[in-house]
Amino acid sequence: MSQVESIVVIGAGTMGSGIAYAAAANGISATVVDVASAALDKARGYHEKTAARSVEKGRLLEADAKSLLGRIAYEGDLAEACAGSGFVIEAASERADLKKSLFATMVASAAGDAVLATNTSSISITEIATAAGDAADRVIGMHFFNPVPVMKLVEVIKGLATSEGTVERTISLAKAMGKTPIPANDRAGFVSNRVLMPLINEAFFAWMEGVAKAEDIDEIMKLGCNFPMGPLRLADFIGLDVCHDIMMVLHRELGDPKFFPCPLLRQLVTAGRLGDKTGHGVYEHTR
Ligand code: CAA
Repeated sequence: MSQVESIVVIGAGTMGSGIAYAAAANGISATVVDVASAALDKARGYHEKTAARSVEKGRLLEADAKSLLGRIAYEGDLAEACAGSGFVIEAASERADLKKSLFATMVASAAGDAVLATNTSSISITEIATAAGDAADRVIGMHFFNPVPVMKLVEVIKGLATSEGTVERTISLAKAMGKTPIPANDRAGFVSNRVLMPLINEAFFAWMEGVAKAEDIDEIMKLGCNFPMGPLRLADFIGLDVCHDIMMVLHRELGDPKFFPCPLLRQLVTAGRLGDKTGHGVYEHTR
């Protein structure tokens, strides 16, 4: 199996820009595609800042930081960016209809044997693959974690039609990016969000019921369970809307009332308090 030398990443949000950086930091060229030029500018700023921080910390030589940044390209046209590509990772917003339309373009533009991966955190891989027609065997879930340059895990999810060859190529790319790939089956939330989101949701219930203050819930979980961030702080970091939407998927797909989002989480989302990205969620954040 030949080593992947370049990838296309669709979506210049937090996950897409993190995936592109992790690839470039490991010698793999990455083209980030987004229709919004402001998102591409923001991604470029993030890449420059992250590389500069590594130079400051003495982890990267200035010349190597320059080569790293030189391996990342920015593109506004999806079909053009995908043309002939052998490995495309879609990291657009979590909307099944949007992902399906992107996959139709990916199939039409990428190489005939390209791996077509999605970074979805909860949408079924089998469902996304319906947009790929005969190429469904090349569709796979490649679930990264935020912040991508730091977090080691890639959850690798096979859809019903995903071939073993696609799995092997995905595992090989994840390893080349310095990650640890671990397989999970195509069930709602896979493993990570099936376990993490109910825990976060329960922290909202504890907060709503006045079991403890938000800060104390987080401190208890940090000091008592060795969490790097408490669950409420983590919810702000992930985005309360994202946590809410994943709970709704778990609830719908698994049919158990235990997955219904906490009313307080729903209320904060309704109020537009989405966490770090809006400057206010459980906590206020300076941006
Ligand atoms: N990009 C690149 N590097 C980053 C970064 C970012 N956005 N944020 C932090 N880092 C790096 C820093 O440069 C720093 O590196 P050095 O120590 O080598 O300088 C290192 O990470 C630690 O950062 P800080 O010292 O600033 O802060 P910290 O020690 O509190 O760590 C953290 C920050 C890594 C985010 C840590 O708090 C943590 O691991 N939090 C939990 C994150 C987590 O659970 N993520 C998964 C979310 S779920 C998900 O993503 C999937 C989904 O489907 C919802």
